[in-house]
Amino acid sequence: MATTTLIPTSPEALNELFGRGQQLAFEKGQGDLTIARLASPHAEATVSIYAGHVLSYVPTGQPPVLWVSEQAIYAEGKAIRGGVPVIWPWFGPHASNPDKPSHGFARKQYWEVHATRLITNQIPQLRLTLQDDALSYSLWPHCFRLELVITLSDVLDIDLEIVNTGKGPFDCGGALHTYFTVSQIENVTIHGLKCRPYIDQLDNHQTKYQQTPITFNAETDNIYFNTKDTCRLVDRGFGRTVIVEKRGSSSTVVWNPWIDKAQRMADFGDEEYKTMLCIETANAGPDVITLNPGGEHRLGTTLGVINSIS
Ligand code: BG6
Repeated sequence: MATTTLIPTSPEALNELFGRGQQLAFEKGQGDLTIARLASPHAEATVSIYAGHVLSYVPTGQPPVLWVSEQAIYAEGKAIRGGVPVIWPWFGPHASNPDKPSHGFARKQYWEVHATRLITNQIPQLRLTLQDDALSYSLWPHCFRLELVITLSDVLDIDLEIVNTGKGPFDCGGALHTYFTVSQIENVTIHGLKCRPYIDQLDNHQTKYQQTPITFNAETDNIYFNTKDTCRLVDRGFGRTVIVEKRGSSSTVVWNPWIDKAQRMADFGDEEYKTMLCIETANAGPDVITLNPGGEHRLGTTLGVINSIS
């Protein structure tokens, strides 16, 4: 198990150690959580150090790409509703113990700032790490090191590097559980998953095939598996397409809670299902990966926007 060290978390200490001028600075965010603010010539982004969680990505002149609930809770031990939670080491409910946290523990732990740099002077990159500790070990008895690498140019790159630092193999699922802002849910179509198989989590986990591009008129909770495809989120209201590329990911999860589930979730406004959806870069369902001792895996996504809906 990794040993505990004193980790600087205040914005002042982090700016001293890791600040990169206008391109990357630390400050207090909502709930007093420390966030990093990244700026490139083409976009801005914010990242919560708690949970290793990208909160916003705004290309210049665009509506925000990422959605965060007005009801989101910013507090230790809680998952933040929106942005890009890191789901790891399991996706969804724990396979054998429903008392363990849904979607693993990485989204509810403090991460450590490991490094920052500027690529060609203007492009900020932030590296956060999370390692096994007593809490993680009580939930999942394996040794690991995660590194989340966030790079902001005109696009946003998020890469989760997973290393097995233990003496035995482990299986892990996971996701970059990306919440997108949309103009109105009836205005959007997701392309890229047509003809792909999926597990319908709302219909006894039956396997089905996606017949058409995806539109929304009801609760949707699908795990598309065996797919490495790029998705295009076409938003006719915003007149733009969000491109969701991915790496090291064989599943894509598409989720919208719709009316009833939105009402059941304490950290989700009743009407907010109309202006969000998730396209999650994942390894879930049958796509869980096995890592041997010393083994590494990189799960990554690149988000970008084009001003076209064709
Ligand atoms: C999605 C799952 O990834 O996350 C859904 O497919 C789930 O089943 C949703 O409802 C939100 O999960 P949570 O744990 O953040 O409420």
